[in-house]
Amino acid sequence: MDSEILIEVEDLKKFFGENRVLNGVNLKIREGEIYIVLGRSGAGKSVLLKNIVGLMRPDAGRILYRGRDLAKAGDDEWKRVRRDFAVVFQHSALFDSLNVGENVAFGLRRMTKLGEEEIRKAVRESLALVGLSGIENLRVSQLSGGMRKRVAIARAIAVRPRVIFYDEPTTGLDPIMSANIEQLILRMNRKLGSTTFIITHDLKLAFSVGNTLSMLHDGKIILEAGVEEFRESTHPVVRKFVEGIPD
Ligand SMILES: Nc1ncnc2c1ncn2[C@@H]1O[C@H](COP(=O)(O)OP(=O)(O)OP(=O)(O)O)[C@@H](O)[C@H]1O
Ligand SMILES: [Mg+2]
Repeated sequence: MDSEILIEVEDLKKFFGENRVLNGVNLKIREGEIYIVLGRSGAGKSVLLKNIVGLMRPDAGRILYRGRDLAKAGDDEWKRVRRDFAVVFQHSALFDSLNVGENVAFGLRRMTKLGEEEIRKAVRESLALVGLSGIENLRVSQLSGGMRKRVAIARAIAVRPRVIFYDEPTTGLDPIMSANIEQLILRMNRKLGSTTFIITHDLKLAFSVGNTLSMLHDGKIILEAGVEEFRESTHPVVRKFVEGIPD
């Protein structure tokens, strides 16, 4: 893909005391693509995502969005950037105190000036896109894990983000629901044209939807490749991961 580079991470470092979680991460995400970071549990995938979306501050390195260094962005610029980003968190992170409709409306209320009628319409459309029409009045506690994930995706797409970030979108779901989520991620990427960044250890997900796959290991990206090249890589760490060889 030769589209423009939307996000560039340069030599990103994040340490927690002696724990050098990210120790010089470099990656480039192109507009419109599905970029996947794979890595073992504890490799630092969620920390990487949190740094990119501004929920954590890097110790060193740069994160460029459309060529602009985010560390240098003032409050107003950050607000605009945050409007372009939507995050589907690892554990869905829905608000238990709000019903489904209010959860999906959350970002719209915070980040847009839409009126009630328009918000209701956007909520209805977003729920329809994830195959959950008409459940606005359900409580979060009434949803299965798969439904929660889909509501979290509806909440993310409701704001029509330029970039959607997914943290482990298929973990903990049955194989059919995982396949449904894969389809949904692909559909949202194509239909909305949103650039998609996924962190996961689910190889099936990565191989079925990814354009670029990269492997986070020992604080660094040790391979960035297309699906075939990744699958066939002879790098010992990648081979072990792809084949699921025990320690
Ligand atoms: N706020 C924090 N304070 C201290 N250490 C942290 C913090 N957040 C993460 N870590 C540490 O950073 C490392 C990477 O954590 P992270 O959650 O990014 O892993 P992960 O790759 O997302 O794992 P998983 O696949 O299990 O979700 C872990 O050793 C974790 O203990
Ligand atoms: Mg994680």
